[in-house]
Amino acid sequence: MIKPDAVENGHVGGILDKITSAGFKIVAMKYTQLSKRDAKAFYAVHSERPFFGELVEFMTRGPIVTAIIEKENAVDDFRALIGATNPAEAAEGTIRKLYATSIGENAVHGSDSDENAAIEGDFHFAGREIY
Ligand code: CMP
Repeated sequence: MIKPDAVENGHVGGILDKITSAGFKIVAMKYTQLSKRDAKAFYAVHSERPFFGELVEFMTRGPIVTAIIEKENAVDDFRALIGATNPAEAAEGTIRKLYATSIGENAVHGSDSDENAAIEGDFHFAGREIY
C-alpha cells in the first residue's frame, strides 16, 4: 500500500517508479480508501498496540494505492527497498527515507511474509482483478 501521507504529498508516481525500476511487476493495483472496519481488519495483528487507534485514523483519512507486486524474493527485496519502519532509521535511497515523515506516517506498507502477502492480496483484490 502507498499510504495516505504519500498520496497527499504527491509521491505516488515517485514510489511506483522506485518499485518498477527495482524489477517488481505490478499484477494488481487500485486507488481506493479504507473504511475504519477495513483498517481495523487489515491491521488486526496490531490491535493491542498503543498506536492502533492512531494507525486506524491515519490509514482511513484519505485515499491509498494498493497493489500486488511480484518478483523473485519479493518480500525481502521489497522490505529492503522501502527501508526501516521508522524513516529516521531507514537507509539512504529507500522509499521511506525519501518519502516518509514519521514512524506512523511512513508512506508505504509491505507484507512481512509470503503467507501474509497472499492474505493481504486477497484482502484488497478479487481474483479477476489480479493479472
Ligand atoms: P506498517 O509496516 O504498515 O505496519 C504497521 C504500522 O503501524 C507501521 O507500518 C506504522 O504505520 C505503524 N506504526 C508502527 N509503529 C508505530 C509507532 N510506534 N507509532 C505509531 N505508528 C506506528
